[in-house]
Amino acid sequence: WVCIIVSNVRRDGEPPLIKGWIPYIGKALEFGKDAHKFLEEYKKKHGDIFTVLIAGKYMTFIMNPLMYPNIIKRGKQLDFHEFSNQVAPRTFGYPPVFSSKFPGMPDQIKRSFHLLQGDNLTPLSKSMMGNLLLVFKQDHLDKRQMEDSGEGGWRTDSMCEFCSKVMFEATFLTLYGKPASKRRHSSMETLREDFIEFDKKFPLLIARIPIWLLGRTKAIREKLINYFLPQRVSCWSNTSQFITRRVELFEQYNSLRDMDKAAHHFAILWASVGNTIPATFWAMYHLVSHPEALEAVRQEIHSLLKLWGMDDFSDRDINLSREQLDQLLYLESAVNESLRHSSSSMNIRVAQEDFSLPLEAEQSVAVRKGDIITLYPRSMHMDPEIYDQPEMYRYDRFVQDGRQKTDFYKDGQRLKYYCMPFGSGATMCPGRYFAINEIKQFLFLLLLHFDLQLVEGQPKVTLDTSRAGLGILLPAKDVRFRYRLRAA
Ligand code: HEM
Repeated sequence: WVCIIVSNVRRDGEPPLIKGWIPYIGKALEFGKDAHKFLEEYKKKHGDIFTVLIAGKYMTFIMNPLMYPNIIKRGKQLDFHEFSNQVAPRTFGYPPVFSSKFPGMPDQIKRSFHLLQGDNLTPLSKSMMGNLLLVFKQDHLDKRQMEDSGEGGWRTDSMCEFCSKVMFEATFLTLYGKPASKRRHSSMETLREDFIEFDKKFPLLIARIPIWLLGRTKAIREKLINYFLPQRVSCWSNTSQFITRRVELFEQYNSLRDMDKAAHHFAILWASVGNTIPATFWAMYHLVSHPEALEAVRQEIHSLLKLWGMDDFSDRDINLSREQLDQLLYLESAVNESLRHSSSSMNIRVAQEDFSLPLEAEQSVAVRKGDIITLYPRSMHMDPEIYDQPEMYRYDRFVQDGRQKTDFYKDGQRLKYYCMPFGSGATMCPGRYFAINEIKQFLFLLLLHFDLQLVEGQPKVTLDTSRAGLGILLPAKDVRFRYRLRAA
């Protein structure tokens, strides 16, 4: 790339290069404003593959989803460790894991991820349902409290704030456990507020802005990390196997300080709620703002409860098994549809050598060592050829003939990858099944127990595109809604 910076000469077979006129920064500002729009414009001009200079990095975008499998399967030549070994440690404050100081640690960490999946998902989902019920019952399901709120039992709240409070606490309790003598942590609200403050600066940290330039962020991060010091974590009970395993594995490394272990736990807190909270918000928002979708999903819940002989829920203590949750097809489709709408994660790989990357049919592209190959699945999620009227929310888009719909097409060819909010290949999110389940559980309880409405006269909520590339986009502005207990 040095050659390109100096002479701007493209080698044979390399994609077109878009550098902009500001040295180093290149097209970072335009990209940061609205990545999707930016990439669509350049796709029109340059086709499916082009390279853009973004903040000192040359990023080659592969825009055709039919080409994705060729990138995803090429683990050896296209490496994914850059994030896990550089960006994440700097952002969350722990030492790089790929280091001779910590032999075997990356593998052990990777292996711990299976505790979020397969059979291990059953106790996790059970615990999550119990914790959601606990938070809902104590804070929102008390009949007298609700009636006292006046206005015929209706309560008003801000939707994103509501989702954040419930999901943050229930997820925390499920993964990390509860304090010694109580069912809930008394400092949960302060922890959540600090988390939100840190999260606002998250994109800048990922963009490698030094933390000391970001005001109080370093102090807030330290406070968040301190929450997970080993002497505190060891007092918690009902901790998930996933976190228990990580505590054990960090204990094996003497060169890991207590603060480092705590920083690892803090990173998992971010991974587990940073995307789940906005994803829950969008799933709820779309349903509440499409009453016909909300009724259809509620209908599915009631029909299945009846089928399972569980239609008496007067004690509001209803719990669903993981298998039952899997049968809520329309609910799952509604969740996937809102993920399709709001996801903007980028899949990044770094070339380990010069090579020719075969893409589609006869086509291939020359790649140089150090090149960053990027997939931006939002372009696929919003492609009208794949998803008819992609801007529209259709709760049943992922259901066909009573089953999950998995066939989506581009240029007449069936796509292997069509919905990618959780990344791909080796870096695919290990918490994806847990995440989908917990959002379904949240919506299940919400639809079962409450009437829900948007407060009238508010504008449609739009996506805050400033975090493009980093996961689920936040709403540009929160929205007010009303809820009241439904008759059991
Ligand atoms: C990684 C998305 C929920 C744990 C990722 C990545 C994405 C993602 C795109 C890959 C980043 C990359 O390419 O490097 C999401 C979304 C979620 C969600 C959209 C919710 C809707 C969760 C939950 C957990 C979790 C609930 C844990 C309980 C992780 C971990 C990684 C990860 C540990 C890092 C994996 C690694 O280092 O290989 N997530 N995630 N995620 N996610 Fe999630």
